[in-house]
Amino acid sequence: MDKYAVVGNPVSHSLSPRIHRMFAEETDQDISYEALQLDPNNFVTEILRLQASGYLGVNVTVPFKQQAWKLAKKLSPRAQDAGAVNTLIFQPLALIAGDNTDGIGLSRDLIVNHQILIEHRKILILGAGGAVRGVLGPLLAKRPGLLTIANRTVAKAEQLAEDFFHIWDVQTCSYEELGRDKYDLIINGTSAGLHNELPPVPDSVLGVNSVCYDMMYNLNQPTTFVNWAIDRGALRAYDGLGMLVEQAAESFYIWRGVRPHTELVIQGLRQD
Ligand code: ATR
Repeated sequence: MDKYAVVGNPVSHSLSPRIHRMFAEETDQDISYEALQLDPNNFVTEILRLQASGYLGVNVTVPFKQQAWKLAKKLSPRAQDAGAVNTLIFQPLALIAGDNTDGIGLSRDLIVNHQILIEHRKILILGAGGAVRGVLGPLLAKRPGLLTIANRTVAKAEQLAEDFFHIWDVQTCSYEELGRDKYDLIINGTSAGLHNELPPVPDSVLGVNSVCYDMMYNLNQPTTFVNWAIDRGALRAYDGLGMLVEQAAESFYIWRGVRPHTELVIQGLRQD
């Protein structure tokens, strides 16, 4: 049986083992997939130990994505741009390759699962941390009409705009400067929801046709941001469970060469 895992700290809450086991069953792949909590001070040693003990790859979650990026000897272009790695591939001759499937996961959930158009649309991203950096490349590759990043610390948004200038011209602003324009799609990429908080975004960014998307998810209730969007009359609002499953599907495809179906897995998690 080929061995895989998700590594993080904490990681016991991770849905990845359930998701990958469902993928394995559906695609008839003989794999094991566990959640392993790693010591933050020994990330590299522990990864090398997993590789030596026969694992073929791991998913990497908080707080190790940047360390995984540094560790990988070979990076895909999207991982290079993201500055973070969520998928390590242990290759022959002890080579460790790194990829990042978060951005493609978000873009598939938006475009395929929810039929949200990005091309030529006005998009607002809230937040400018690692989560946003991780998804920006694949979003910009879909050629939005306008993409604005708003952040409390505007300098971080400006840094992102500079780093992605080779792909697209990204606008930046503070939350106070928002409100003049309405957006077709508003993506919450802040970590405010972890504390049931909202980024201070004015209601006036929402038009009657605005769609909202929270990169965070809750299994059994809407997220704070999804509630905000629905209460203020957004046309549609989604959380990030689909993104989680889609990024997992892309990792599974990288490792196994088989693309699992995601729809039933998303439904199954939601029903449970
Ligand atoms: P992550 O990897 O989740 O992106 P991060 O790199 O620490 O974590 O970034 C967190 C993001 O959420 C940042 O954009 C942060 O804003 P600042 O850069 O100004 O700190 C944003 N954030 C966190 N809590 C927030 C809150 N209550 N309101 C608005 N933005 C918040």
